[in-house]
Amino acid sequence: GPEMAALVAGGTVDVPDFPKPGIVFKDLMPFFGDGPTFRKVIDGIVAHWGAGSFDVVAGVEARGFVMAAAIAYATGTGVVPVRKAGKLPRPAFSASYGLEYGEATLEVSEGAFVPGQRVLVVDDVLATGGTAGATMDLVERAGGVVAGFTVLMELGFLDGRERLSPRKVHALLTV
Ligand code: PRP
Ligand code: MG
Repeated sequence: GPEMAALVAGGTVDVPDFPKPGIVFKDLMPFFGDGPTFRKVIDGIVAHWGAGSFDVVAGVEARGFVMAAAIAYATGTGVVPVRKAGKLPRPAFSASYGLEYGEATLEVSEGAFVPGQRVLVVDDVLATGGTAGATMDLVERAGGVVAGFTVLMELGFLDGRERLSPRKVHALLTV
């Protein structure tokens, strides 16, 4: 609701021309650093989905890791890391995608999920949806069932949500 949106908005700093000219970077690190706000927002995300609606949380490296661990701890579930290319030590599924500012590859270990496990995918920001789309494909290839995708902030003008349809997407704040 509006309270959650205001908390996220209040913890975000817009940084022009990072990492490239023309990109306005949404810096959510001030938000992560504020204990009471961080707790309220994590609790808000859990309340939205409902504890019991997912079995495990998948966090997208790097900023998604911070939120995923907190949501997992709050719900007594575990965390599966979705990592940038070349970091996982054992055989992994791999997906490449275009980012608002470049190209990237994400990976998930084979056998990361119990087949049929319901997975809440977590990241800080939904921009073009490239990261989220690749992640959800990886989750399914690794045997999970995507329960939904949750972020703090959605950049609505980039139409990421449409790209991820019909999967369930929740953002605390849409700008
Ligand atoms: C940012 C952000 C999301 C992604 C959103 O991550 O944290 O993961 O971009 O963009 P998209 O919807 O257009 O794919 P980034 O790749 O910059 O890496 P980081 O989390 O490691 O900082
Ligand atoms: Mg990221």
